Amino acid sequence: MEKIILTGDRPTGRLHVGHYAGSLRRRVELQDSGEYSRTFIMIADAQALTDNIEEPEKVRQNIIEVALDYMSCGLDPARSTMFIQSQISELCELTFYYMDLVTVARLQRNPTVKNEIQMRNFEASIPVGFFTYPISQAADITAFKATTVPVGDDQLPMIEQTREIVHKFNTVYAPVLVEPSALLAANEASKRLPGTDGKAKMSKSLGNCIYLADSADEVRAKVMSMFTDPQHLLVSDPGHLEGNTVFTYLDAFCKPEHFGRYLPDYGDLDELKAHYQRGGLGDMKVKKFLNNVMQELLEPIRTRRKELEKDIPAIYEILKKGSEEAREVAAETLSQVKSAMRINYFEDADLIRSQSERFGRNAQ
Ligand code: TRP
Repeated sequence: MEKIILTGDRPTGRLHVGHYAGSLRRRVELQDSGEYSRTFIMIADAQALTDNIEEPEKVRQNIIEVALDYMSCGLDPARSTMFIQSQISELCELTFYYMDLVTVARLQRNPTVKNEIQMRNFEASIPVGFFTYPISQAADITAFKATTVPVGDDQLPMIEQTREIVHKFNTVYAPVLVEPSALLAANEASKRLPGTDGKAKMSKSLGNCIYLADSADEVRAKVMSMFTDPQHLLVSDPGHLEGNTVFTYLDAFCKPEHFGRYLPDYGDLDELKAHYQRGGLGDMKVKKFLNNVMQELLEPIRTRRKELEKDIPAIYEILKKGSEEAREVAAETLSQVKSAMRINYFEDADLIRSQSERFGRNAQ
């Protein structure tokens, strides 16, 4: 079977290194691997609006930020179709039909939605659009017959729910839809990168993100003030790795060759960790190393972004073309869905013929 990628992000801010570790880096590798016949990357503005009802302008402003972040990381419009969710009206139609296949109780059990409802204090008044966004996400994925969805692990419940919808649809109607699989980041640290303050999630409101577009100075300042081990007061004290953000970031981003370049006293990360745990290794030295690792990673991304920023109309053009291409694919799936659901009255010559016969017979 053809392998197809679809994934996306809500445009509520610039993308940060958590997005990069959790999914973006993987997408670029997959795009470049040549193993996938198509790659679709969606800017999920309609989904962003489900919990940003008061802030349409924020969503509008961040479309271009996300597109620039995508392309500076190496997503290439020649190989990946980048598009804007709201421009594909077929996704709304699919969502509407999939709603018949999902119960309210099932949506209430979705752990990611549960968690988000709590975080946003929606308990008393959940917008219906927000509550049902997992169904719309199933439409996003299935419209493109995606087999593979590279995402962070908070998105697993969405993929699971999508698989259930696909299964139900294919059983009730006809085998039109494809069950997708999630593709997670390779290691634990990358799956869920904490904020620079050690808090579980990076978020703009907590001010604990390193953005892909941050300047070298901003990155350095953020790395130098990172949360480490609060009990590690003296250099000679034994340090702890558990919950130590600097080491979590190293787990996510450091490669063996970085030691040769920036910290030749150590052969690899395990040696560095062992020394830290023994005592005698100061936080400052580890942070300086991490800063070098982050700068090496982010410098080319930043440079490419600066280049891309010189021609903003070209970026919108790429998104427009991508949206047109995506729309064609989604329209084809929608047409198959409607015929499976027996609501394709005017494209079905057989229907009209058989009805004429039925009435003709009755009339005799
Ligand atoms: N829910 C995703 C997020 O918050 C964004 C998204 C929307 C998505 N539709 C998708 C991701 C389809 C993967 C596939 O980041």
